[in-house]
Amino acid sequence: MATNASAYPTDVGADTPTVTEALAVAVAAAGLAPSFHHVPPWRWHMTGDGLDLHVEPSRLSDLTDPDARLAILSCGAALHHARVSLAAQGWRATVTRIPDSARPEHLARLQADGPAPTPIEALTVRRGQTIGVRHTDQRPLSGRRIGPDELTAIITAVHAEGSLLHVLYPDQVRHLAAVPSQPAWATVRDRDFGHDGEQHLSAGYDRSALFAILYDRGDQPLNWLRAGEALSAAWLTATEVGVSLLPLSATAEMVGTRQAIRTLLTRVGHPYLVLRLGTIDQDDAGQAHAPQQPIDRIFEVS
Ligand SMILES: Cc1cc2nc3c(=O)[nH]c(=O)nc-3n(C[C@H](O)[C@H](O)[C@H](O)COP(=O)(O)O)c2cc1C
Repeated sequence: MATNASAYPTDVGADTPTVTEALAVAVAAAGLAPSFHHVPPWRWHMTGDGLDLHVEPSRLSDLTDPDARLAILSCGAALHHARVSLAAQGWRATVTRIPDSARPEHLARLQADGPAPTPIEALTVRRGQTIGVRHTDQRPLSGRRIGPDELTAIITAVHAEGSLLHVLYPDQVRHLAAVPSQPAWATVRDRDFGHDGEQHLSAGYDRSALFAILYDRGDQPLNWLRAGEALSAAWLTATEVGVSLLPLSATAEMVGTRQAIRTLLTRVGHPYLVLRLGTIDQDDAGQAHAPQQPIDRIFEVS
């Protein structure tokens, strides 16, 4: 794993960055968060000792994401990345989600509360470094199935962020394959996941994949934001334990397919994303990171 340990202090003291430095690093870290269609739909505003996170209306897609569900999920992932970065730099922070119901585009306030009182735990520093390593990998899962400890770690990460994960049994995966899909998204090879009877589970393709549904009991912007934080937590955890996590949004984008997936959750939950989990043979060549958006598209200081 490529690391940059010098970017983060391991002890509180003279090395701890100032609040302005810490918040700027957190915004940059959030810029590495996963985003739907690779269009970061967030904008940060630094005011005082904190950051305000807004969803950017000009970057929403009426066609594929009419309720902004997946955009807000992406913003949640960015929020979690910023939280992780602040913690890794030795800063305590408080999050207020949807602070003003009259301004729903203002998704969160991330307030830096001060330097953490104790030396930063190695796991916290490592989590910050994992942000620079995580990336989307669409290659077929050619390696072994993920083990129970790895799955438990990922489920625990999702639960810690207040969302839920439903692991699909093989017969439920077959059920998903019958959920009708919609036109393909060109950048995503495995959008075929939801096509009628065409799911790529044949020999050699994703043979070792395990599928899970990221969901929650509510279907409001707050649930979507928290599910994005859970996606980020799950993905960073998966990266650390050597598991490939790929979100598949096609089956959750349309009302009809979402309702069909709900039957797999016995209608107690609202599905947001299908997650493909597994491992990739280490002999396969890796994928480069997708290019990130310029910082001035996502950040303002006042
Ligand atoms: C809400 C959400 C939905 C996504 N859906 C898909 C998907 O269906 N298929 C896919 O290959 N990647 C999907 N992604 C991953 C993005 O394409 C990816 O995060 C983006 O291109 C940036 O690349 P990176 O993750 O390597 O930084 C999704 C990401 C998010 C946050």
